Amino acid sequence: MRGRIAEVLTRARQRSLGLTDVLDEAELVAQHSRLMSPLVWDLAHIGNQEELWLVRDVGRREAVRSDIDELYDAFKHARANRPALPLLDPTQARGYVGTVREKVWDVLEASALRGDALVDGGFAFGMIAQHEQQHDETMLATHQLRSGAAVLHAAPAPTGTSELVGREIIIPAGEFTMGTSTEPWALDNERPAHRRQLPGFAIDAVPVTNEQYLAFLADGGYDRPELWSESGWAHRREAGLVAPQFWERDTDGQWFRRSFGVLTPLRPNQPVVHVCWFEAEAYATWAGKRLPTEAEWEKAARYDPATGAARRYPWGDTEPDARTANLGQRHLEPAEVGAYPAGASPAGVHQLIGDVWEWTASGFDPYPGFRAFPYDEYSDVFFGGDYRVLRGGSFGTDPVACRSTFRNWDHPIRRQIFAGFRLARDLHPEER
Ligand code: AVJ
Ligand code: FE
Repeated sequence: MRGRIAEVLTRARQRSLGLTDVLDEAELVAQHSRLMSPLVWDLAHIGNQEELWLVRDVGRREAVRSDIDELYDAFKHARANRPALPLLDPTQARGYVGTVREKVWDVLEASALRGDALVDGGFAFGMIAQHEQQHDETMLATHQLRSGAAVLHAAPAPTGTSELVGREIIIPAGEFTMGTSTEPWALDNERPAHRRQLPGFAIDAVPVTNEQYLAFLADGGYDRPELWSESGWAHRREAGLVAPQFWERDTDGQWFRRSFGVLTPLRPNQPVVHVCWFEAEAYATWAGKRLPTEAEWEKAARYDPATGAARRYPWGDTEPDARTANLGQRHLEPAEVGAYPAGASPAGVHQLIGDVWEWTASGFDPYPGFRAFPYDEYSDVFFGGDYRVLRGGSFGTDPVACRSTFRNWDHPIRRQIFAGFRLARDLHPEER
């Protein structure tokens, strides 16, 4: 257990430093988008959360820098206002996170890793590793928004096959277990496990691809209000949406996608990414289908028809690896559909985990029996807003922060996150 904790904390820190070491001072303190914090804020915030929970709370040690708590409290300052704060500079921020981490190694050594809910099963350590990785994904989104030459590099994602495009998988009606009460590092909003009864439904074997999305665009998808909800159309007009974010067209009408500073022709079989929920909704209407509900998505990702049990991942209970899922920034793009046959569910649904976060039809609400833990500001304060739930993680999500029960959420207008979607539909009477 201690070894596993050390491994996930170390991996997170390598990534945080890797995302910040490649940029100069000016780029680290700059605001690349009003939607994002300066990268140097994320870095010190990562250290501050680690100090609050592991050094002070679990370790009962003296504070390292209680004077900066307020600066790095995400609820005190909106992202757009963070560049104007008297933040630690990049050198100070690196020093700060390093000092905190040294103390955490000490705390980890001393902790019994059981005795109260915060440390049982190493929970607080797992929570902090996930927190750092969540901010690393946010920092990766900031990298995607910055202009200038490429600074991040990775091997291209694997190729797949167009054979799965258009294939639907039928998930029969019946009960399944949603959420978890046993996954040790599951966050509060994933709990508790509870039974859900769902009618049968069909879900696409793979996410919607660039080629499919291009057909929607070519068919006037962005100019037909009847395909959009009222609020979706209002947003489409106000924001001037004409294509997914980071798509560009040359004078010959050829489409390209700008990804981490590199412009490449659109790859037809890659899942579409950087679309907002309203775009996903309009596409679904155009295609005569709908987005899956969150429960449908989770049933597709977990239910094993042979045993009736709920799995941790579509392929079973083993940790994700390079054969099963495109996670952890191993690649800087989603893989083509069909690239991960070993990661498919028993029913034949592919790439539920990794590649792109998938928008669902559902708002962000607590499960029956929810209890905020260990703090209200992780989930509780976000329930019931205009948020929509996203599932499955992206190429930028680390495995420690990704499982079939994991719930992400964002406003329906957001598209700087690595989000795409897949479609579902009700069954026709003869299919039931
Ligand atoms: C769960 C990804 C929506 O980044 O806003 C980070 C995670 N919570 N710090 C976010 C989070 C506190 C959160 N999301
Ligand atoms: Fe945070």
